[in-house]
Amino acid sequence: MQDTSGAAGYLNELSFTDRFHRELAPSWLNYVAMLNDFQPQPLLQPFTYLDLGCGFAQSTLINAAALPHAEFHACDFNAAHIEAAKAVAERMEVSNVRFHACSFADLLNDSSVPTFDFIVLHGIYSWVDADVISTVHALVSKLLRPGGFLYLSYNCYPGWAAEEPLRKLMNELARVKSGDMTEKVQWSLQEARSLGTPSFRYFRENAGLQDALESLARDPVNYVAHEFFNETWTLHYSVDVLDAMEGLGLTYMGSATLADNHPMLTLDPQAAERIRALPTPRLRHLAEDFAVNRRFRRDVFVRGAPASGQGGQGKLIDDALIGLVPGKETLNTRVEIPRGRLSFQQPFIDDLQSLLAGGPLRLGDILSRLGRSARSAAEIRQNLLFLVAAGALMPFSRTRSER
Ligand SMILES: C[S@@+](CC[C@H](N)C(=O)[O-])C[C@H]1O[C@@H](n2cnc3c(N)ncnc32)[C@H](O)[C@@H]1O
Repeated sequence: MQDTSGAAGYLNELSFTDRFHRELAPSWLNYVAMLNDFQPQPLLQPFTYLDLGCGFAQSTLINAAALPHAEFHACDFNAAHIEAAKAVAERMEVSNVRFHACSFADLLNDSSVPTFDFIVLHGIYSWVDADVISTVHALVSKLLRPGGFLYLSYNCYPGWAAEEPLRKLMNELARVKSGDMTEKVQWSLQEARSLGTPSFRYFRENAGLQDALESLARDPVNYVAHEFFNETWTLHYSVDVLDAMEGLGLTYMGSATLADNHPMLTLDPQAAERIRALPTPRLRHLAEDFAVNRRFRRDVFVRGAPASGQGGQGKLIDDALIGLVPGKETLNTRVEIPRGRLSFQQPFIDDLQSLLAGGPLRLGDILSRLGRSARSAAEIRQNLLFLVAAGALMPFSRTRSER
C-alpha cells in the first residue's frame, strides 16, 4: 500500500527543538497586515487558529494561554511531539488547544475540523515532498476562511544556493555511516569539515561555507538533523510560492520578518533604485531576494483580494499596539538592522522610554503624544516602525478588558 502521509520521507527518528516563534503570534501577524495596509483580524472576538506541523507546539501553547477566548488547533504526526505538548497544556491548564496527532493527509479527511482565521506553517514547506505540499495546499483551500491569514516560512533561493551541494554531500556521508541518527549527523559534519579545506575548489570558491560548517557544528544536533538530513529538502523561489498561493486565491501581504517590509532597512539605495525600475511587481519581489541574498522567508498571505486596505495611505498601522520588549526594557539610541545600524536622537528615545514605561500604547497615540507638526508625525511614525523592525519594540495584543 502506498504511504501518502508524508512520513516516509520525513525524519521522525529525532525530536525537533522546542522553541517559541514570536512571528506566529496573532498580534504579530496582525501587525504585518496593518503595516502593509490590510485589515487585521479582530482578536478580541473568538477566532480560530491552526498550527500545521506544530512540533512541541510551544508557540501555539503560549498564544493559546494568552488568548483564552480563541480556539487553537495543533497538528503533527510525530506522536512524541504531541504527547509532550499535551502534557504541557495540562500542566499550564491551557484548555483551548485541540491536538491532532496525525498527518496532514488525515487532517484533510477529518470532517470535525472547523475553518480557520489563521493557518501557520513554520519550518514545514521546505522539508516535505511534493505530495505533502499538495496536501498543504488542499488544507489551505479547504480550511482557511475568506479574509483569513496564512503564515508560511521556507528556505529560499538564492541565499541557500551555495549550500545546497553541501547538504547532498553530508547526506551521502550519512548513508555510509552505521549507527543512530545522532551519530550519523555528527560524523557527517565532522567529515564535511575535514573536506572543507581550500584544496577542495567548491569550498575555496564559495567563501563562507567553512564558517557555515563551523556554525552547524555548534548547533544542537537535532536542529541540524531536521534542517539538513531530512530526505526532502527543497529550496523555493519566492515567486513560485507567490504563484502557488495566488492559485489558491491568496494575496501576499508582507513578511513576518519585520525588517523585510522596509526596503530602506534591507536594500542599499542603488539596489532599491534598480529594483524600482523593474517592470512588474513579481520581478521586484524576486529581485529583492537577490539584492539581499535572502535564504529564509516568512511570508504572510490573506485569503481574497486586497480590498480591505485604506487606499494605500498606510494609516491602518496607527491602530497597532506597540511596547517595550519584555526583558529588554531599556531602549538604546542605536539599533541593529540588516544593512548595519540606525541611530536615533537621545531626547526622542528618552521621551519614548518614559511614555512606554507604563505599558504598550497605540502607535497613533504615541504619535500624538510625541509629535507636533504633520512632518514630524511622519518621521516619528517611521522611527517607531523601524524600532519595531529592529526588535527594540514589539507588537502586542489588546486584552479583552482593554476593549
Ligand atoms: C521542522 S519541525 C517544525 C516544528 C514547529 N513548527 C517549529 O517551528 O518549532 C516540522 C514538524 O512538522 C511535522 N510534520 C512534517 N510532515 C508532516 C506531515 N506530513 N503531517 C504532520 N506533521 C508533519 C514534523 O513531525 C515536525 O514536528
